[in-house]
Amino acid sequence: MTDHRDLFRLDDRVALIVGGGGGIGSAMAEALGGVGASVSIAGRSAERAEAAAARVREAGAQSLAVVADANNPVDCERMVAETVDRFGRLDIILNAVGGGAGTALHAAEQYPTGEWDRIVDLNLTSTVLPTQAAVKAMIAGKRGGRVLNVSSVRGQLGIDAGYSAYVAAKGAINALTRQWATEWAKYGITVNAISPTFVDTPQVATLLQDAEFKAKIVSRIPLRRIGTTADLVGAVLLFCSDASSFITGQILTIDGGLTATQ
Ligand SMILES: NC(=O)c1ccc[n+]([C@@H]2O[C@H](COP(=O)([O-])OP(=O)(O)OC[C@H]3O[C@@H](n4cnc5c(N)ncnc54)[C@H](OP(=O)(O)O)[C@@H]3O)[C@@H](O)[C@H]2O)c1
Repeated sequence: MTDHRDLFRLDDRVALIVGGGGGIGSAMAEALGGVGASVSIAGRSAERAEAAAARVREAGAQSLAVVADANNPVDCERMVAETVDRFGRLDIILNAVGGGAGTALHAAEQYPTGEWDRIVDLNLTSTVLPTQAAVKAMIAGKRGGRVLNVSSVRGQLGIDAGYSAYVAAKGAINALTRQWATEWAKYGITVNAISPTFVDTPQVATLLQDAEFKAKIVSRIPLRRIGTTADLVGAVLLFCSDASSFITGQILTIDGGLTATQ
């Protein structure tokens, strides 16, 4: 009898997680390692990348930390080259660099260009450059591949809180997810995105310490709680594995029903 759980196994597959030292990225590194993938973790801080790689190894999977800036094209080529050198192939790229929305809140009519560039670089360019490098390796490898972007519900929902640059970047990631899916299907490469609302990570911890703010967020979510990194694992395993062979160009909201109410 077929064991359909095998659809989600990633034995012999190699994943590059850009931003893998972060709140979401490190949890997803452990999840992918947990189903058998070898995981390469890229980030600017050696300490954070090494710590995440160590946790993957402790869980029994192979892992490599690569110090690299996702906004630097040379670094992006190198993070892919080091991954392929170490593990022999590249099957999956998970783009988990981004955030910073709350650090750049400005009225739309006077959004400062410097802050605009910073947030777009952090959220959009940091997804584009590593993906270009990774997909070239996947095309050369001739085994297909998986691209998974981390977007945000802000890519599809406006909010009257000064988020212009962040919503523009995440909206562009959603558009690129569909565009890349269309262009790279001929190589057997699927491209999807997960689109969470607040996920309880260090990046949003300070915000969520404000009980009034947290209660307001929770009141808008039909499932009446904040998401956790564990809530993302099922979708990540789906999109990174053979279980999603015929799914591409999709943006899956993981938001306790928030977008269903809009
Ligand atoms: N947390 C949430 O509530 C939430 C909700 C919706 C969507 N998201 C999205 O989820 C993604 C991850 O968020 P998170 O909460 O995990 O954030 P995080 O903890 O800040 O993680 C982001 C990681 O990206 C790395 N990074 C930043 N700039 C980089 C660069 N130029 N090159 C290489 N690495 C870089 C950082 O490590 P280094 O500083 O070491 O480079 C950091 O570890 C973001 O795209 C965010 O927009 C988060």
